[in-house]
Amino acid sequence: MFKITYRMVPPKDVVFSSVRRLFSGRNILSGPSIKKFEDELRNYIGVDYAVAVSSARYGLYLILKSLPIRKGVDEVILPAYMPVIVAKVAVLCGLKPVFVDVDPETLNMDPDDVERKITKNTKAIIMVHLYGVPCDIDRIVSIARKHNLFLIEDASQALGAFYKGKRVGSFGDATVFSFNFQKNLTTCGGGVVLTNNKVLYDKIRENINHLPYPSRIELIYRVVRILTDWVLTHPVFFTYFTYPFLRLLVATRLVTLREISDYSFRSVVPLHKMAKMREEEFVEMFGKRFTNIQAEIGLQQLKNYDERLKRGSENIEMLEDFIGKKRVLPKDVVPAYFLYYMFVDNVEMVLKHFFKHGILICGTHYPILPDLDMFSKYSCDCPATRDNAKKVIYLPFRSHLGVENLFRIAKAFNNVVQNKKMVYIPKKLPYRKVSLYGLAEDEED
Ligand SMILES: Cc1ncc(COP(=O)(O)O)c(C=O)c1O
Repeated sequence: MFKITYRMVPPKDVVFSSVRRLFSGRNILSGPSIKKFEDELRNYIGVDYAVAVSSARYGLYLILKSLPIRKGVDEVILPAYMPVIVAKVAVLCGLKPVFVDVDPETLNMDPDDVERKITKNTKAIIMVHLYGVPCDIDRIVSIARKHNLFLIEDASQALGAFYKGKRVGSFGDATVFSFNFQKNLTTCGGGVVLTNNKVLYDKIRENINHLPYPSRIELIYRVVRILTDWVLTHPVFFTYFTYPFLRLLVATRLVTLREISDYSFRSVVPLHKMAKMREEEFVEMFGKRFTNIQAEIGLQQLKNYDERLKRGSENIEMLEDFIGKKRVLPKDVVPAYFLYYMFVDNVEMVLKHFFKHGILICGTHYPILPDLDMFSKYSCDCPATRDNAKKVIYLPFRSHLGVENLFRIAKAFNNVVQNKKMVYIPKKLPYRKVSLYGLAEDEED
């Protein structure tokens, strides 16, 4: 029986054709595919303009830099639970981050708290659709309009999600998507800025035209990285090499499962370095152009992207059926899950339980932002974030998993539920019971 883990990599044909492209030496840096990729993305989302960028973080930086910001005075509203780099970019651009609490059900920003935190200095809102689940977009859009605020959608994790029949990424004044290594669509690092605003588009286009291309060595490193990730998480290799190796590391206490989990979602810049990073360093590190080879890798995945998303959602449905609980989302929302998350009382014990059963899962990978030293000046009270953020685990669901594997994951999860020491905490969380496919009944919520 194979061991199970996440596969954050694109399909095999994409991985291998990326390697071939790299060594073909043809149009690696500049070329016509960049424009084609931009056009396909803007058509896919339904907006007027697209600029491919080196990363979502650099896209955010370009958007914020194009706004008239009073440094050290203007504020930006963003969620207290999300990737640290987003808040760091806001600080680098001279904005004061104002963290808002999250909705305990979706972990997306709570519109009531957004409204409460608006001041006369608020300049913009960054609305992050976490884990691929759209925010309460109507409320946030109407708050932004009412107070005349610039609304940025950080849809990095939500390519393909819908809100009221429209693609996420078409609601803000500007949007970023990320195509980094872990995303549902990856270009080995990269991102795109989308907007309907011609002035903003021209500014960003002008800005990126002056940036250097990444070096050939860097591109080789990136392609080798998806290849390595692909190999290490391939079911056969994972079963006979990666898992036993990790097991040995854990048994000898060289690493903990939590550290493995954090490593799986490692950030390009470690936290201690990010805390000290200045704007020039940031620009030097990330101010690069998106390349033709990355566009080709992206275009290849776009062809059947929706199909892959659909297979992932079908797997989630099956997993939920086996578990016996279905997440209930607002009826106007169709998520494009990047991570399928659940809440548990004791993440460490749950990780151990799964690992013992041959399944490597991960736990929360975002810190509570206002609690970080680097944002100590902007600390604030976020009770729902504090209550829930540390209880998140991610269950594998991607299309490489068949029914049998999904059943094993659900079974391991349900065993956790039945173990009183690791009580599952649905409390006010939005689940309903569904048929249990022969699994033992779990506790009443
Ligand atoms: C919500 C969100 N915003 C921004 C980023 C930064 O993306 P990138 O790595 O492309 O800069 C990420 C990446 O993990 C993300 O998930």
